[in-house]
Amino acid sequence: MRGAGRAAIAAPHLRTDRWWLQPAVTFAGLLAFIVYSTWRAFANADYYAAPYVSPFYSPCLAENCAPMKGGPNWEIFGSWWGLSPALLILIFPLGFRLTCYYYRKAYYRGFWASPPACAVAEPHKTYTGETRFPLILQNMHRYFFYAAVPVAGILTYDTVLAFRDEDYEWGHMGLGTLVFLVNIVLIWAYTLSCHSCRHIVGGKLKHFSKHPVRYRMWQWIGKLNARHMLLAWASLISVALADFYVYLVASGVFDDPRLF
Ligand code: FES
Repeated sequence: MRGAGRAAIAAPHLRTDRWWLQPAVTFAGLLAFIVYSTWRAFANADYYAAPYVSPFYSPCLAENCAPMKGGPNWEIFGSWWGLSPALLILIFPLGFRLTCYYYRKAYYRGFWASPPACAVAEPHKTYTGETRFPLILQNMHRYFFYAAVPVAGILTYDTVLAFRDEDYEWGHMGLGTLVFLVNIVLIWAYTLSCHSCRHIVGGKLKHFSKHPVRYRMWQWIGKLNARHMLLAWASLISVALADFYVYLVASGVFDDPRLF
């Protein structure tokens, strides 16, 4: 931002590289996900193809869900809920990603140009950071992390259920099982690489030597944390692909190829 106390440089920036490329790619990638996930969340159809349930629709919290044998169906919201059941659950993973430190940087740059890139002045006249409503709510990220952990646990359960065939017999694997396995590994890697998780595990300690287990876990999480941006994108793509796979099978585009 320009203003008193800042160097009086007339040029908008002095960068000579293609600094706009990263925010442009970020904008396109996030927009594609928003469009796709909005369509799928409101579709309220083709989210279950035995034995797979779309990660966008699990756990099911309303009575109007497709019957998922053995799946996480808790009809907390009863029959009065007439909209898509995905809307009841997506708020948690969505809130987790929306308040994520990496995604904040990504969409502040890609969507709001605040700032567009390092050392490029932003077009806005004032800057209040995250000190006021609504952006002060970004500080709830830790609580969304607490909500994201059980959701990841439920998706793990769904992945275990994917080791059945379409008649619910155990000990089978289809291409969809592999898709679900890759997705759940990436979901956990992204969730555990969270900055809040790193602080919960290793923060507020005066002496690491007195907490060797937490220190070891903090080191592991630190290694994941260094790849948080990569994991954010990989898990975003994998969760959309897992949903799309279920959509293709459920809508009859092709049958899930059985591996054994
Ligand atoms: Fe990205 Fe917590 S900082 S998920």
